[in-house]
Amino acid sequence: MYIFGQPVLRKTAEPIKPEEYPNLQELITNMFETLKRSEGVGLAAPQIGLPIRLFIIDLDVLSEDTPEYKGYLHTFINPEIIEESEETTSMEEGCLSIPGIHESVKRPEEVHVKYIDENLQPQDKWLTGYEARVFQHEYDHLDGKMFVDHLSGFRKQLIKSKLIAMTKGKFAANYKCKPNR
Ligand code: NI
Repeated sequence: MYIFGQPVLRKTAEPIKPEEYPNLQELITNMFETLKRSEGVGLAAPQIGLPIRLFIIDLDVLSEDTPEYKGYLHTFINPEIIEESEETTSMEEGCLSIPGIHESVKRPEEVHVKYIDENLQPQDKWLTGYEARVFQHEYDHLDGKMFVDHLSGFRKQLIKSKLIAMTKGKFAANYKCKPNR
């Protein structure tokens, strides 16, 4: 897992041609394994050092509480957000690339999105609830953004020293990490 401070996390990722991308299925399988091991719900390619527009979401881990997410393991290639609801909602977020920090983030409640799925089929739909939340968080990674960028100046100030320490390799996580130094 690439950790806050790694330049790849601040890059704008490039779209891919999924039918031509080498070993795409293998990459996706590896990403799901990495995500499972780190007990997260979403993982974007830049977080494993690849600046491409692809992320995965595993909501199956929430299916004990939310049965509708049973078997929800999806891949999103070249995703786009084409419309956002005016209604916003605040939810606590964390990020595998920013271990140990959790903060409430305000985002649109629903988003109209387009993407290519794991079967290389184009999709066009409105997302809501947790799905919309995680999609937006992962989508940010493709534009070099991270959830801490959404915080107020005050909240940012409170976590600043932790973030600086993180860029120097001082943090704790129970999965394999690749800090900047
Ligand atoms: Ni993240």
